[in-house]
Amino acid sequence: MKAIVTGASGGLGLEFAKLLAASKYDLVLVARSADKLEANAALLRANHGVNVESVALDLSKPNVAAELVTRVASCDILINNAGFASNGRFDELDPLRIRDEMMLDVVTLTELTRAYLPGMRARGAGRVMNVASTAAFLPGPFMAVYYACKAYVLSFSQAIAEELRGTGVTVTCLCPGATETGFADRANVKGTLLFRLPKANAASVARAGYDAMMKGRDLEVPGLSNKLVAISPKITPRRMLVWVSRKAVES
Ligand SMILES: NC(=O)c1ccc[n+]([C@@H]2O[C@H](COP(=O)([O-])OP(=O)(O)OC[C@H]3O[C@@H](n4cnc5c(N)ncnc54)[C@H](OP(=O)(O)O)[C@@H]3O)[C@@H](O)[C@H]2O)c1
Repeated sequence: MKAIVTGASGGLGLEFAKLLAASKYDLVLVARSADKLEANAALLRANHGVNVESVALDLSKPNVAAELVTRVASCDILINNAGFASNGRFDELDPLRIRDEMMLDVVTLTELTRAYLPGMRARGAGRVMNVASTAAFLPGPFMAVYYACKAYVLSFSQAIAEELRGTGVTVTCLCPGATETGFADRANVKGTLLFRLPKANAASVARAGYDAMMKGRDLEVPGLSNKLVAISPKITPRRMLVWVSRKAVES
């Protein structure tokens, strides 16, 4: 049995890989940093005796999903985890960074899912997990593109989970809140209110997602405070919701 994990050079991706390796899945680890991928692969091979292939790819580039498929034809589990965010006024952000963000967080995630689902359907078994965020539930001033991308991931994942009901193939959307990884540093949001509050531990978030995926659940929002964020649009006037969201990430 083989699992592909994107964004497996560190953070949540590495935690997913550890859980899969402990369950004896052979792994394909994908990210840009070849050195970190190879170090993680060596550790997982040594600790769990599974086959681990590391594939260094920039998943924000066009047609990169097809490139991965030529190297790895099929898988039993696909975890679309790689993602990043940009912080700042939308009209001042680097347009190329915005494009990369949408390519990675939305386009490649969709294309990889499209590429690997038919094989899973043919076998009548498979698991896909797409990593969104609590950002999926509300608009995010100063992280507008990221929040919108994650709203797409949630909507897309729940829709195809429904299409696949009864086929033996399931799609899980994991929506973590602030979690201790390299994410906040890369997004330049370390100093924001959202990331000054206590953060979840990456291993426990990955465990919650992994368990939900294995049970075939379509949505996992780990932690009570994140569950409150998920229901907040139902109980909060929209204007207030956007204001609170702004305060959480405004520098
Ligand atoms: N941490 C949080 O607070 C939080 C909260 C909610 C949701 N999330 C989501 O959780 C997922 C995992 O993030 P994380 O927290 O683990 O962050 P992280 O520590 O920054 O890890 C991100 C991973 O994605 C990879 N990646 C980034 N750009 C890539 C690209 N262009 N091509 C291929 N791989 C790329 C990185 O590897 P390379 O740099 O080696 O390419 C790294 O392995 C993301 O989708 C993120 O949006 C995170």
